[in-house]
Amino acid sequence: MNTTSKYIVSVYPAMAEERERWNERYSGVDFDVPDDPIPELERRLSTLPDGKALDIATGTGRNALFLAANGYDVDAIDVSDVAIETARERAAERGVDVNWHRADLADVDLAAGEYDVITVGFFAALEHLPAIKEALAPDGVLVYEHHLRSSDPVEVGPSSERYRYRSNDLLRACLDLTILAYEERRRPVAGGTAAVATLVARNSSGGTQSYPKLILSDSSQ
Ligand SMILES: C[S@@+](CC[C@H](N)C(=O)[O-])C[C@H]1O[C@@H](n2cnc3c(N)ncnc32)[C@H](O)[C@@H]1O
Repeated sequence: MNTTSKYIVSVYPAMAEERERWNERYSGVDFDVPDDPIPELERRLSTLPDGKALDIATGTGRNALFLAANGYDVDAIDVSDVAIETARERAAERGVDVNWHRADLADVDLAAGEYDVITVGFFAALEHLPAIKEALAPDGVLVYEHHLRSSDPVEVGPSSERYRYRSNDLLRACLDLTILAYEERRRPVAGGTAAVATLVARNSSGGTQSYPKLILSDSSQ
C-alpha cells in the first residue's frame, strides 16, 4: 500500500452485500473476464503521462496489469476478494507488481493530485467522479469506459438500466477536464456486444494547450 494515499476500510452491511454479490459472480463459471486492457487505454498508452496510476474497480486487474507492465507504479482497488485474489495470481504469473487494495470505493479517501493516469472500466461511479478527478495530478489523464442505455439489443452489460449511463452522462460529468476523446458506440466485448461510452480526459485547463499526437493504427492520419 502506498503511504501517501489513505485507505479506510469499513464493514457497513451495504458494502458486505456488494462484496458478496461480486464474489459470487467471480466464482461463477459464466462470468467471462477479459485479459486485455480497455482498447482505448492500449491505443493511447504512448500519449499518457508516465508515473503513478490508479485502476478503480480493477476486477481481475486487466488495466492495472497492463499499466504495471508498462512501467507505472499502480494502485488498484476492488470490493471483491475473489477478484483481487485472481488479480494477484495474474500479477505473480506475469512478474509485475501492483498495490492491490480490497475496498469499497465509497470508503477510500483518494489523495488529491496523486495519479498521472486513472482508469475506470465498466463501473458506474458518477457519484465518485469529483473525488476521482481531484485525485488526478496536473495533466493527469482519466480513461473511463462504461455501459450505456441502448435501444438496440446488446448482449453484455448490467441488466438494470440503473447501472448504465445515459447518453452524455460521463461527458457532462467531466467537462471541467480537457476532453481528448469521447465516443458512444456499440463494440464487441468479452461475451458479445455492448453499448459503451469511452472517455479520455486530461486534468488541464486554458484556451491554448498542447495536444497529444495520436497515430491511428488503421490510417495515415
Ligand atoms: C464489470 S466489473 C469490471 C472489472 C474491470 N474494471 C474490467 O473492466 O474488467 C465491475 C467491478 O467493480 C467492482 N465493484 C463493484 N462495486 C464496487 C465498489 N463499491 N468499490 C470498488 N469496486 C467495486 C466489482 O467487484 C467488479 O470487479
